[in-house]
Amino acid sequence: SDLYGDSRRNSAGVELGHAEERARLVDGMTAAVLSVAAATVLAPGLAPVGRPKPVHSPADGRTLVGEVVEADPEDAARAVGSAACGFEVWSRCPVESRAAALERAADLIEANRDRLMALLALEAGKTLPDGIAEIREAVDFCRYYAAEARMRFGEGCLMPGPTGEENRYRLRGRGVFVCISPWNFPLAIFVGQVAAALVAGNAVVAKPAEQTPLIAREAVTLLHRAGVPEDALLFMPGDGRVGAALTADPRIAGVAFTGSTETAWAINASLAAKRGPIVPLIAETGGINAMLVDATALPEQVCDDVVTSAFRSAGQRCSALRLLYLQDDIADGLLEMIEGAAAELTLGDPRDQATDIGPVIDADARDGILAHIEAMAAADRLRFAGTVPGGDLAGGFWVAPHIVTLDRPSDLTREVFGPVLHVVRYRAKELDAMLEAIAATGYGLTLGVHSRIDATVKQVVDRLSVGNVYVNRNTIGAVVGTQPFGGSGLSGTGPKAGGPAYLQRFALEQVVSINT
Ligand code: NAD
Ligand code: ALA
Repeated sequence: SDLYGDSRRNSAGVELGHAEERARLVDGMTAAVLSVAAATVLAPGLAPVGRPKPVHSPADGRTLVGEVVEADPEDAARAVGSAACGFEVWSRCPVESRAAALERAADLIEANRDRLMALLALEAGKTLPDGIAEIREAVDFCRYYAAEARMRFGEGCLMPGPTGEENRYRLRGRGVFVCISPWNFPLAIFVGQVAAALVAGNAVVAKPAEQTPLIAREAVTLLHRAGVPEDALLFMPGDGRVGAALTADPRIAGVAFTGSTETAWAINASLAAKRGPIVPLIAETGGINAMLVDATALPEQVCDDVVTSAFRSAGQRCSALRLLYLQDDIADGLLEMIEGAAAELTLGDPRDQATDIGPVIDADARDGILAHIEAMAAADRLRFAGTVPGGDLAGGFWVAPHIVTLDRPSDLTREVFGPVLHVVRYRAKELDAMLEAIAATGYGLTLGVHSRIDATVKQVVDRLSVGNVYVNRNTIGAVVGTQPFGGSGLSGTGPKAGGPAYLQRFALEQVVSINT
């Protein structure tokens, strides 16, 4: 989609000065925020029973963004039952109607972009460029899956066979899909999962991350306005207990989950413990993402790509760079450049156009990242520590960029979900050992390679089972339909979101053989 297009132009394509553009966005956001008043939306006939819970901004705990009435885990059974009824009608709608509903939802998301941008900034701490990119991704998921569904669902296709027999292969919805999403892409991933499951003919019970229910509710409202029946899409805000109750329900037909590897294990165990239909799990999880830089790389480009991959979005992307492998010969010069660039990044209010890095999502996230940094400092590994400006930022959760050096790659054993870059130096003759170390993490989500030697690039790409490999560029911001996204091993089950195999995993395959 062309949402906002070039950030220096308005939606009519008129060139804007920075100040004017910013004023327009901020005005839109202020108006939008004043009208946010969220509440729970449960299955038809389910009344919210809990007390409204305030949702505060991670950028400033004094800013009330809205309120949410969370679902009770005991509501899960009724929600699944209601969605099972919704499935009977929705699954029989022609694929054209389901695809058209997604396209209308895409139009509505675009039409409501200021309000969505406001919620992304306030509830999730997204900077303006990140928020705009996320809205664009949500729109793209809707349009891409609509187009894919038209091609793959419907009447199906005739398979080759003997004379006198017709064999028709087709895809149809499976039943009730539970979609569970994380807070770091509270709009794009939430919408992507739900849109795929719906257009494939399933009914959906959607559980957003507990940190970001308001933006998810907004998306559900738009999907309903676009024509998705209320009992084909139910919204269940709440914490992991609500997710666990939904995945334990014996009637569900599938789970689409994006989040941590630990939670994917828990869901997998819960599904396996049921004595009933084998329920498929689509899990998209984290990574210890690496970037290998050899002595032929272009230093300025590496510097820019490292800073973007490791520190933008406060490192809160599953695709973010965690472990940088620098060939010894160029390491000193490059590290100096990277530190200089990291020191220039501005932490601040995500609504401010000058802000490069917003807050981390909550106190637990901040404390966990800071504890890791302290442990690294105690081990004398801290090489660069950015600073958090004082004053107005006092009420938020902030972590400045940090760079630590490791003796061995195996010193980093888990995904640190924040702006912390770990660096390992290697000698040219140790390249194979470094590739072994990357493989040994067991993760396989994103990988960066900076080298001008084709044979080196091929060696790296062929050796590693990583889902998304980026050569001589940064490692974030996969584009729907262009860079289908997702990993392997500890990073997920596949299929790739925004790719041609995604919808099929939400579908039941059926072959009808007729003796003609
Ligand atoms: P998380 O695993 O803590 O939570 C994700 C979701 O699972 C939330 O909605 C949560 O409430 C729910 N949940 C928690 N326990 C559950 C249980 N027992 N049963 C069912 N649901 C449960 O992850 P997070 O902190 O929200 O997200 C960050 C993680 O997500 C990082 O590891 C990141 O790498 C990963 N991620 C991966 C991708 C990808 O595409 N591969 C994209 C974004 C984020
Ligand atoms: N799809 C997101 C990215 O590529 C996670 O950064």
